[in-house]
Amino acid sequence: MKDQAEKLRNIMENRVQKNIKLSRNKAKVLAITSGKGGVGKSNFAVNLAISLKRLGYRVLILDADIGLANIEILTGINIKYTIMDLIKKDMDIHDIIGEGPEGVKIISGGSGIHQLSMMDKKNTNRLLGEIEKLEFEMDYIIIDTGAGVSNIVLDFVMASDETILITTPDPTSLMDAYTMIKALTTNGYKGKINIVANIVENRQEGVSIFNKLNKVSKKFLDVNLNYLGYLKRDAIVNKAVKIQQPFLILNSSSNISKKMNVIALKFVNPNEYDKKTEEPGFVQKLKDLLFRRGR
Ligand SMILES: Nc1ncnc2c1ncn2[C@@H]1O[C@H](COP(=O)(O)OP(=O)(O)OP(=O)(O)O)[C@@H](O)[C@H]1O
Ligand SMILES: [Mg+2]
Repeated sequence: MKDQAEKLRNIMENRVQKNIKLSRNKAKVLAITSGKGGVGKSNFAVNLAISLKRLGYRVLILDADIGLANIEILTGINIKYTIMDLIKKDMDIHDIIGEGPEGVKIISGGSGIHQLSMMDKKNTNRLLGEIEKLEFEMDYIIIDTGAGVSNIVLDFVMASDETILITTPDPTSLMDAYTMIKALTTNGYKGKINIVANIVENRQEGVSIFNKLNKVSKKFLDVNLNYLGYLKRDAIVNKAVKIQQPFLILNSSSNISKKMNVIALKFVNPNEYDKKTEEPGFVQKLKDLLFRRGR
């Protein structure tokens, strides 16, 4: 017998498919970012892309962490041309798109740290202009940014429609996440800021991280954050990195893969998902009633 989560997933997927048919319009540009480095952005970007692709969307990952070629390493593919070729050789964006796993398209930032100096404001703007050409060819353009509040990272995040800010429970990661939110809001960012708590021990830890961040952001920056969910600490992530295969492909029925799918569904259809999952089930409602009557 199918459990409730499975049924919900099927309903959502049918709706998603219908939505795609109805609205093949402009791509949503989504920046994956963090205050502190090494919190799981690139792994999240790759697996979110695969999850969205499996839902039927056209997805492209742009590795904007220039100089490190993270996405190529995590997916085990080699892309001939990179963003640096586009800038230096004046190439068209279509010529540098590589084929990633399961039909996800990838644009590589290229490797070699010296290339960092190439990404000044002018070149970032040129790249953003090229990305515009893809807006009617994709449903989601996922930008994996570098960490921290540098100019290049901020330019990419500021230009995005929505942000997913990844943080871990580590206090320095939380502090740096807040610094990023502050930089975005003081620069006038209008997109939704979603929070994903990564490498947590349990659901409560994820919720508590979000509540802390949301409370200070509301109080000092007058901004409301959106909680997208959490991913637990899971050894499969490192295993997947080592064999250069995204964890959703390595084991699509692992706990972390299921949670990733829930995050993807919640991202594409926030209102619907929140309504359905936040409604208490029969047992919970009964418990609440009994509790209220003081039994
Ligand atoms: N949920 C998780 N459970 C266990 N380990 C994780 C999890 N998420 C990420 N990691 C580990 O954290 C490390 C960093 O991951 P990743 O490269 O995706 O981070 P990043 O934020 O992109 O880093 P950078 O800022 O350097 O680009 C990896 O070694 C990965 O295995
Ligand atoms: Mg990375």
